[in-house]
Amino acid sequence: MSHADDHADDHDGTKRDFLYYVTAGAGAITAGAAVWPLVNQMNPSADVQALSSIRVDIADVEVGTQISVKFLGKPVFIRRRGADEIADARSVDLDLLMDNVARNSNNPGQDGSDQNRTMDEAGEWLVMVGVCTHLGCVPLGDGAGDFGGWFCPCHGSHYDTSGRIRKGPAPENLPVPMAEFLDETTIKLG
Ligand code: FES
Repeated sequence: MSHADDHADDHDGTKRDFLYYVTAGAGAITAGAAVWPLVNQMNPSADVQALSSIRVDIADVEVGTQISVKFLGKPVFIRRRGADEIADARSVDLDLLMDNVARNSNNPGQDGSDQNRTMDEAGEWLVMVGVCTHLGCVPLGDGAGDFGGWFCPCHGSHYDTSGRIRKGPAPENLPVPMAEFLDETTIKLG
């Protein structure tokens, strides 16, 4: 393995970064320009910046499908719902909800109406952290479960087409993270 490969794979070794830098620097002054970007790349603040928000291209997401992206170490589901899913989600009597809170970081303190959880008024785009609110498994999607939304097989939690918990041990709806449209085909998370 070359020094460069070795370095690229090393995400936790501050000491190794330091040694590499010093060794290269002492060996040849001309190496300095090549070495510095590698060291700089390991700067933790650059990592944190890269993670604090991401842009997701949704141009290829078909109606009735979803993509899953990893954000801040967790899966985030971005679903483009079909008309039937939207109608299902919007026809639910709020008194039937186990958790009648939107759980939407963009829209705090609202009730659990589907309108309070979706990205757009028409309700086509639903973005949620894909982590079961019971004990943290990743629920299955694409119409899974008794309510046609998501199902967590770990202990049997059923979420509806709005990602709201309807049956099972999970106490809360799947949370909606900070998200906004940057343009028609780009969603920014964070
Ligand atoms: S972790 Fe999902 S039901 Fe228990």
